[in-house]
Amino acid sequence: MPDLEHLKHAPADLGLNDLIASRWSPRVYTDKPVSNEDLKKIFTAASWAASSSNEQPWRFIIGHKGDDTYNKIFDCLVEFNQSWAKSAPVLILTLAKTTFTKDGSPNNAWALHDTGAASANMCLQAIALGIHTHGMAGFDKDKVRTHFNLPAEYTEGAIWTLGYLGDPETLPKHLKKMELAPRTRKPLSELVFTEFGTPAKL
Ligand SMILES: Cc1cc2nc3c(=O)[nH]c(=O)nc-3n(C[C@H](O)[C@H](O)[C@H](O)COP(=O)(O)O)c2cc1C
Repeated sequence: MPDLEHLKHAPADLGLNDLIASRWSPRVYTDKPVSNEDLKKIFTAASWAASSSNEQPWRFIIGHKGDDTYNKIFDCLVEFNQSWAKSAPVLILTLAKTTFTKDGSPNNAWALHDTGAASANMCLQAIALGIHTHGMAGFDKDKVRTHFNLPAEYTEGAIWTLGYLGDPETLPKHLKKMELAPRTRKPLSELVFTEFGTPAKL
């Protein structure tokens, strides 16, 4: 197998924390199941993310390969995502509660924001345990709502694969090419400003 970890990690000269440098989104997994102990740590890490008013609007629905929940989540994915996500031992659907529990007022502005933060924690705790994750927006939201009979105040976040890194040689050519492609990022000058559009001097 090519040295994917080396190829896909953020460059060492950026001096990033190892966890951040080593998280990336693969499209092939091994059959190895993920232990409940590790999953508990991963979701506990997610639950320790910051959130507006400490609402913790994130919810996770987890399916293990072979169970009904997995099959329902998998059925929501678009065909392209199904073509590679099928090797993942675990699928996770994230949801966000769009009302504050304390008074029922809208939390539309921050619910997905905070669910994203919890998802980032989930990914970093996973990689600390040698477990990879890959988020997907390519899924049918209506199917999610009906398959899981979602209450109105919950909105769909993303679907995630989770598992141990597999061998890219087993992938069809077009997916293998994506798997081996280098990762790129926008320069900070496009992202960090002093006034809108004026790059901060970093
Ligand atoms: C919310 C979200 C939605 C995404 N949707 C898809 C998707 O539908 N299919 C896919 O193959 N990758 C998807 N990705 C993966 C991104 O393409 C990937 O994170 C991005 O290219 C950066 O690569 P990295 O995660 O390896 O840093 C998604 C990622 C996130 C966070």
